[in-house]
Amino acid sequence: MTGSENAVLEALDADRDGALGRLFELLRIPSISTDPAHAADCRKAAEWCVAALREIGFDAQLHETAGQPMVVGHMPPLGTEGAGGGGAPLRVLFYGHYDVQPPDPLELWKTPPFEPRMGEDPRHGPIILARGASDDKGQLMTFLEACRAWARTAGGPPVAVTVLLEGEEESGSPSLGPFLDAHGELLKADIALVCDTGQWDARTPAITTMLRGLAFCEIAVRGPARDLHSGMYGGPAVNPIHGLARILAALHDEAGRVRIPGFYDGVESPTEAQRAQWAALDFDEAEFLTDVGLSAPAGERGYSVLEQLWARPTAEVNGICGGYQGPGTKTVIPSEARAKLSFRLVPGQDPERVLAGFRAFAQAHAPDGCTIAFEGEGGSPAVGFDTESASMRAATAALEAEWGRSPVMMGCGGSIPIVEAFKTVLGMETLLIGFALDDDRIHSPNEKYNLSSFTRGARSWVRILARLAEAQAQRA
Ligand code: BES
Ligand code: MN
Ligand code: MN
Repeated sequence: MTGSENAVLEALDADRDGALGRLFELLRIPSISTDPAHAADCRKAAEWCVAALREIGFDAQLHETAGQPMVVGHMPPLGTEGAGGGGAPLRVLFYGHYDVQPPDPLELWKTPPFEPRMGEDPRHGPIILARGASDDKGQLMTFLEACRAWARTAGGPPVAVTVLLEGEEESGSPSLGPFLDAHGELLKADIALVCDTGQWDARTPAITTMLRGLAFCEIAVRGPARDLHSGMYGGPAVNPIHGLARILAALHDEAGRVRIPGFYDGVESPTEAQRAQWAALDFDEAEFLTDVGLSAPAGERGYSVLEQLWARPTAEVNGICGGYQGPGTKTVIPSEARAKLSFRLVPGQDPERVLAGFRAFAQAHAPDGCTIAFEGEGGSPAVGFDTESASMRAATAALEAEWGRSPVMMGCGGSIPIVEAFKTVLGMETLLIGFALDDDRIHSPNEKYNLSSFTRGARSWVRILARLAEAQAQRA
């Protein structure tokens, strides 16, 4: 087994420039899922993925949805001798997303977001610069390149591989539920693998053992029937910006706790063992904050930064608008003010209930004479995994072999909506293994992925597939 694993790793290293060329092709497609103007680009990215999978040897198809298309590919495992003995081969489902966040604000990019290029980072050496370089095109390509090297060198991967690539992750995966209901059979596997999370630091890999959930919505506060001259009407006219500000200002108390009634109902605390493991991690709170220009943690008092990120829910305003935004003065009372909000959730919280709580809270805090509407709601619950499973142990051994260090079992403040559905709809556990770093600037201008994340990420997947196959053979 290790013989062929080494040959696969050598083949991967030898084709590094080919792999980079393929990643750059995908990065050139501006597949921004939230922006309807880019629907054709999302389709183009999906078609590119289908072609790339077929070239590797997958039986791959594009599947239409109400939104952006899904890409599904299958590849059988190599012969049973290679897989290490008899018994049914392990089946894995790999998930990644080909859509990206909008590049805004464009003027802050040093080079155009969809013209990928290599750069040099003082801390990390060579980097790949483009929107999606890290989230998630660079990451998903680490897995596809590992499969390509297995296929070319050994005739196929050591486990049966299904690949699912989504084009709406960055818009909350609205088509996913219906797709899983209709095509669950296509996707059935023993375990899901997701490459959309980070490492502990540049030298230390990680397995992410939980994700926060998310609930999001938009609120519109309306007052007068049209924009008004603030001299002719100021005083008697209710101002929707003031109404919105009042609601938003009421969201948190002085200690950083969310004041929506029932918000914390059912919230599960991390176990003592988890708390102890997190406390033992060598995490530098000051460095984490100063790296992004912060001086003190602003969250709930009484919790460490890691606890605030991994174990506590939040309420955030992500965008706000109303009134005149152009240059100079305009004395107007606008008819409407809007804000986009999202809530990060932890185990025990239900997105629907959190949104219902917010709606009631907003109504209760709105001034007389304002009406309130809610739009664009969505979300997914938090999810956590057993850290003692055979596949976790296999992945741990594989990451140790590649990085010379044990992976950190870490939490995650972010969300990947499909992962909870893998568990509840398809009955699968997920191994979340990614190679992104906190300073990759995902969702921000000048997003990057370290070249070493890309190359060692692909090498890690080669080894993980080998170890998962071995563990399965031992079970048989
Ligand atoms: N890859 C991220 C999730 C992530 C962020 C993992 C940070 C690890 C560290 C994913 O693409 C993402 O951005 N998810 C969104 C989901 C939302 C748009 C429904 C998120 O977390 O905001
Ligand atoms: Mn992502
Ligand atoms: Mn993202």
